[in-house]
Amino acid sequence: MTSLPFEIAHIGVPPIKCQGIKTKLVSFLCRSIRWTPTGEARWIEPFLGSGVVALNVAPQRALLCDTNKHIIGFYQAVQLGDISRTTTRDFLECEGKKLAVGGADYYYEVRARFNRLGSPFDFLFLNRSCFNGVMRFNSKGHFNVPFGHKPERFTKAYITKIVNQIGWVARQMQDKDWEFRVAPWQEAFRSVSPADFVYLDPPYIGRHTDYYNAWDEMEAEALARATKALPCGYALSMWLENRHRKNEHVGKCWGDTEMRVCGHFYHVGSTEGLRNAMDEALLIKPGFATIDPGKQHTRKIPAPDAQLALLPELQAMDTAS
Ligand SMILES: C[S@@+](CC[C@H](N)C(=O)[O-])C[C@H]1O[C@@H](n2cnc3c(N)ncnc32)[C@H](O)[C@@H]1O
Repeated sequence: MTSLPFEIAHIGVPPIKCQGIKTKLVSFLCRSIRWTPTGEARWIEPFLGSGVVALNVAPQRALLCDTNKHIIGFYQAVQLGDISRTTTRDFLECEGKKLAVGGADYYYEVRARFNRLGSPFDFLFLNRSCFNGVMRFNSKGHFNVPFGHKPERFTKAYITKIVNQIGWVARQMQDKDWEFRVAPWQEAFRSVSPADFVYLDPPYIGRHTDYYNAWDEMEAEALARATKALPCGYALSMWLENRHRKNEHVGKCWGDTEMRVCGHFYHVGSTEGLRNAMDEALLIKPGFATIDPGKQHTRKIPAPDAQLALLPELQAMDTAS
C-alpha cells in the first residue's frame, strides 16, 4: 500500500488536460505529505480534474470525485476497459485522418456530436485538439472551446504519446479499489473516515468560471470550515502569490495549517517566452506534513489582512503534456 512521503522517479502524465493541472507540483506534494494508510483507508480527492495527483500517488483504495461528468465518465471508461490502448489508437487514427481533411469544420462536427452524445472518446479528441488544451463548458453544460488550428494534430507520434498515457492510467488503476463518482465535494466529505486522507484542489475563486467551476468566496470559505472539521488528514493546494498579487483567502481561512510553498512558472497566452513566476501553497493539517530539512519550503501563513486579492492571470496556465 502506498504511504506518503515518497520520491517520484518519473512523473506520469494523464491523457486529459485541464486548467490548474498539478503535473508540476506532484513531486512536491508527494514529498510534503505524511500519510500511512491502514485497514480500509482511502485517498479521497473531491476535485479530481485531470487525475494527475491520484494517478501518481496510486493509493490502493480511493474515492475520486468531480462535478464534471465527462472527466468521471472518461476514467470509468478506462476502468471498464472500454477505453484502452487499442480502442484509443483505432479511434484517434480514424478521427485524426478526418480532422486532417476537414480541419476546423470537422472539429466543430465532433464538438456538436460530443455535446449531443457525450462520448468519452470524443471528449479525449476535443481535449487534445482544442485551443490551448483548455476545458470549458458554457452555461448549458456544452463544451465550447474553439479549434486549436492544427488539422494535422493527430500525427503518429502524438497518437502514440496519448496511447501510452492511456496505458499508464490503466496500469495505475489495475488491481486497485478506486471509485470514480460524479459528486460535489460535500458528498465526497460525507463518507470520510479517520484513517483516510483528503487532497483538495478546488477551482480558483472567481476564475475559469464555467458550468463545472462556479467557485466563489462563500464556497471557498464553506470548504475551509468543512475541511477543518474532517476527522482525517488533509492537504489543500492553493495559489499563494505572484509578483502582482497575494491570495488573502489563505491567511483568512487557513491560518491554523502547516504551509509549504513551491514556486513554479506559468505561461501567459500561447507565448512560450512570457513566463510568470507563481508561488503555490500546500496547506496541510498539522501532524500530516513531513519535516522540511532545509526549511526551503516552509513559510508562515500570511496575516489575514494581507493585500486584497485580485486573481492572477492563470487562464493560460501551462497545460503541457
Ligand atoms: C483545479 S481543478 C483540479 C485539478 C486537478 N488537481 C489536476 O491536477 O488536474 C478543479 C476541479 O474541481 C471540479 N469542481 C468544480 N466545482 C466542484 C464542486 N463544487 N465539487 C466537486 N468538484 C468541483 C472541476 O470540475 C475541476 O475538475
